[in-house]
Amino acid sequence: MAAATTKLLLSDLASTVKSVPSNYIRPISDRPNLTEVQISDGSIPLIDLQVLDGPRRLDIIKQIGQACQHDGFFQVKNHGIPETIINNMLSIARAFFKLPESERLKSYSDDPSKSTRLSTSFNVNTEKVSNRRDYLRLHCYPLQDYIHEWPSNPPSFREVVAEYCTSARGAWGLQRDYIDKALGKHGQHMALNYYPPCPQPDLTYGLPGHTDPNLITVLLQDDVPGLQVLRKGKWLPFSLDYDFRIGYRPHTHIHNFESLAICLIPNTFIVNIGDQMQVLSNDRYKSVLHRALVNCDKEHISILTFYCSSPDAVIAHAKDLIDERHPTVYKNFTYSEYY
Ligand code: OGA
Ligand code: NI
Repeated sequence: MAAATTKLLLSDLASTVKSVPSNYIRPISDRPNLTEVQISDGSIPLIDLQVLDGPRRLDIIKQIGQACQHDGFFQVKNHGIPETIINNMLSIARAFFKLPESERLKSYSDDPSKSTRLSTSFNVNTEKVSNRRDYLRLHCYPLQDYIHEWPSNPPSFREVVAEYCTSARGAWGLQRDYIDKALGKHGQHMALNYYPPCPQPDLTYGLPGHTDPNLITVLLQDDVPGLQVLRKGKWLPFSLDYDFRIGYRPHTHIHNFESLAICLIPNTFIVNIGDQMQVLSNDRYKSVLHRALVNCDKEHISILTFYCSSPDAVIAHAKDLIDERHPTVYKNFTYSEYY
């Protein structure tokens, strides 16, 4: 297999090369601007799910609806997923990307139709400039159909990831709601993203600006910033320069932190609307552009859970959302036609 002799994966290349190879360098007009601090119009909402089971339930549901309409992105805390499951997930992802190349390459494939595959960049078959990311994609629902395909190394990989994705399904009450009924057999996929340190983070992206094609994405990240969200024309980064117990860190002298960054809070999830949900809601909910930057001295890990409809489900807007003021925006289509 040629894969065993060429350096396919970035994680191996990144440790030996001290500058960004030319195929990763973006044209000047399309580079992240690391020096200019952009003031945006407020941060994304932080929603506390703890009260979902109390008397303020309707309030919280309304907050979520508002966030889907106005922001397309929000953070959730008190979601019920135990900290140990979160930490184990991040650790096993880190351990996977530290395995010897020959071991990881057992999962390597360029074929996007494979349900378990390790690859690099974004789409190696079509893109002109490469991105500084390696990723492992997994299908995880129904679990028993896919778990035997997953990597068996590190030895606890399957157990830890299965615990995480089962717990992520239960937490949002997704089994109970509208989506489950409307889309029947929908899918749950994961991406374990690995962004190695990059000597020149101003020349390239971990992931360039994109919207997600699926319904809803739930993102977990470690404590290294990477994700940025486009908000009113400005890229809003995540930042640790915010102590969620005491508010703004005194030494930063930033008066309006929330219009500069989104606070990166351990054990919270970031939820965003994908293209399918925008269509389903007849454009009421927004699928918003986002991207990932890389760091010069730190590796970064993010764990994405994608909920999507089955490939042959017809995506049609919910009929209740159509009236004279909100006419139909999209024709009906299947997910595979769209994808
Ligand atoms: C994605 C994505 C962002 C990140 O994989 O679709 O937006 O921070 N990832 O890894
Ligand atoms: Ni995305």
